[in-house]
Amino acid sequence: MKRILLGLTAVVLAISVAGCGKTEVKDDGAAANGAPASVGTKTLKLAFNQSESHPQYKVLAEFGEKLEQETEGAYKLEIAPNALLGDQRATSELVQSGAIQMSVVGNPIVENFNKDFAVIGLPYVYDSMEHQKEVFVSGVLDELFGSTRSNGFVVAGAFTAGSRNVYTDKPITTPQDLAGYKIRVMESDTMKKMLDYMGGVGTPMAQSEVYTAVQQGVLEGGENNEVTYVDLKHYEIAPFFSNTQHLMVPDLILINAKLYDGMSEEHREIFDRLMKEAVVQEFEVWSDSVEAAKKVATDNGATFVEVDIKPFQDNVKPLHDEVTAVSESAKALYDAVRALAR
Ligand code: GCU
Repeated sequence: MKRILLGLTAVVLAISVAGCGKTEVKDDGAAANGAPASVGTKTLKLAFNQSESHPQYKVLAEFGEKLEQETEGAYKLEIAPNALLGDQRATSELVQSGAIQMSVVGNPIVENFNKDFAVIGLPYVYDSMEHQKEVFVSGVLDELFGSTRSNGFVVAGAFTAGSRNVYTDKPITTPQDLAGYKIRVMESDTMKKMLDYMGGVGTPMAQSEVYTAVQQGVLEGGENNEVTYVDLKHYEIAPFFSNTQHLMVPDLILINAKLYDGMSEEHREIFDRLMKEAVVQEFEVWSDSVEAAKKVATDNGATFVEVDIKPFQDNVKPLHDEVTAVSESAKALYDAVRALAR
């Protein structure tokens, strides 16, 4: 009996993990809501490494509701927040294999699949939020976003994550202030080089490990936006947040390629349209979230420091040349992005 049950569990898991079952099945093998599973509903499991109060979570939850409604229940989004399914590198691999269907990951993670992605995550490549929005909605990224198909996923859209700034145990107002400071960066070569050019020591690491690493003195600090700084309570271990504004790195919404390409034309049209709306909507809610986060951080003793960004901008210029020299497509993409600056 035990063996039969084990066998059954394995079959149910295999169907669920392959993402190709027609029947909606929860990962633990139980039918959703305890009722007989509804025929024809495909659950899109999306991995998210931040909390339910993050603006991207709210926008995605609304996207999911609309998707379910407009596809008349053919697709249903299930978000797994708080890095429950692993860090961004791990979840991008789960999307590749089809074990889960979607994930939100920072651009540097995808750069490891196609180097051209580094262009849209370069320091100071966007002049403003307006510029970045224009880049995300104008269609200049369509080719890039489809280029990872051979890796098993495509990029369905990009969310803003505002601007990133350095935080540590003292104000950082010049590149010299960062000398010898190990600052955590997202996991890519470009991110490491960027922080090195800025004057410090770039240290790639998963986001979930940063708090303890700073606490134990393995790192002197990190760099991130205000929302994540507060979401992860990093103000407790690094109370000076200096407005270097060095990055506006996109978050990318990955979807398994086989699943996306297998959608009916009608469903793909709905998916794409709702995703575009979500991208625009997320820009709208982002600035409110930043203001709210700053208040929480200040109430908890953090200090926000104004910075003259010019020396940092000058320092990272060689990185623009290095990244665009990699391929003609990288250079063309860079020019297209810059052409949209006003
Ligand atoms: C931001 C971004 C995340 C990313 C994180 C990081 O919070 O929105 O997608 O994981 O930075 O620094 O790793």
